[in-house]
Amino acid sequence: MAVVCEIRDLERLARRRVPKMFFDYANSGAWTESTYRANSEDFARIKLRQRVAVDMSDRSLETTLVGQRVSMPVVLAPVGLTGMQYPDGEIAAARAAAAAGVPYTLSTMSICSIETVAAATTTPFWFQLYVMRDRDFVGSLIDRAKAAGCSALVLTLDLQILGQRHNDIRNGLSTPPKFTPKHLWQMATRPGWCLRMLRTRNRTFGNIVGHAKGVDDLSSLSSWTSQQFDPRLSWKDIEWVKQRWGGPLILKGILDVEDARRALDTGADAISVSNHGGRQLDGAPSSISVLPEIVDAVGDRIEIHMDGGVRSGQDVLKALCLGAKGVHIGRAYIYGLAAMGGPGVSLALDIIRKELDITMALCGERRVADLSRTNLYHEGRQD
Ligand code: FNR
Repeated sequence: MAVVCEIRDLERLARRRVPKMFFDYANSGAWTESTYRANSEDFARIKLRQRVAVDMSDRSLETTLVGQRVSMPVVLAPVGLTGMQYPDGEIAAARAAAAAGVPYTLSTMSICSIETVAAATTTPFWFQLYVMRDRDFVGSLIDRAKAAGCSALVLTLDLQILGQRHNDIRNGLSTPPKFTPKHLWQMATRPGWCLRMLRTRNRTFGNIVGHAKGVDDLSSLSSWTSQQFDPRLSWKDIEWVKQRWGGPLILKGILDVEDARRALDTGADAISVSNHGGRQLDGAPSSISVLPEIVDAVGDRIEIHMDGGVRSGQDVLKALCLGAKGVHIGRAYIYGLAAMGGPGVSLALDIIRKELDITMALCGERRVADLSRTNLYHEGRQD
């Protein structure tokens, strides 16, 4: 049995356990992947200030996010096709998040539907919404999330047009999946995954098939999804979403100061500084590099979250020091899920919690709310 100390260990296990097309889907970015790489590399450049002889006996990572108490300021980000990394993966991730006391965000493009996850869990989860051309369908998704008791809505703004991801094109990733000899071979080399997949009924986009007009079976899904992301999405739509939802709203995909200022006018409860994990505009800056300027511009008027490239509790701490109140993780928990199902998500969260706690202590801080830029060396300092 492989020893798992850090998220990279889970990544290695995931690569061995999931068919290549699905592992690559999670493990890559858009175009040249420069933004995808920068998300992690820019974290590594930030240096921490070590402090000594501070009483560290009473420490806490607890805080609140959009008014909700969390055991640490970490959120599981929405990830499409999670149920292809591990059968019923959305349920497993939601349960692991609830046990860890952190929010889970279910993607519009999830395999298990809102209702399926709600029926299998007891703790409210967050729902992520894409604005599609069919506004009746978007409205019905909001209503379904409300009826299922979701406790926050994450509205994704950076996917009016799907970024081009070369690995997915090379792998022929599609919905519904093609069963060419190459794909069948990839699946045959992962028998554990195949056996588990055969045991679940959740193998398609549960929020869409049977719910959206014109998508009653798998054959009609592919053309529907490719046409549906709405290129006309505008700030006005956000007001409409906010009204219809009526609960805590987080705007995801803000990477520019001007957009952050514009987001204030919508009355949203939080913004999430994000470049979609480097999957949309390749060449855009890393999330962590733009976080400080966005915090300086609007941080006193709106709660700020971030995601992108977070692979450790140290990364979480650096984002908190730079002004994020909440840090969302995508691949870090997906590797755990793909490697070993629900226990893998719990393990990923345990790893991150431990790293965050130890790093905070070694920086001489006892509360996440006390972390600030003073815990970091200023840019340009010589090593
Ligand atoms: C995503 N992300 C995403 N975001 C969203 O709003 N809706 C979605 O359906 C998806 N789907 C999705 C699939 C996969 C495989 C990945 C890796 C990511 C983006 C996600 O919510 C988050 O912004 C990034 O994952 C953060 O970057 P890291 O933590 O993965 O580096």
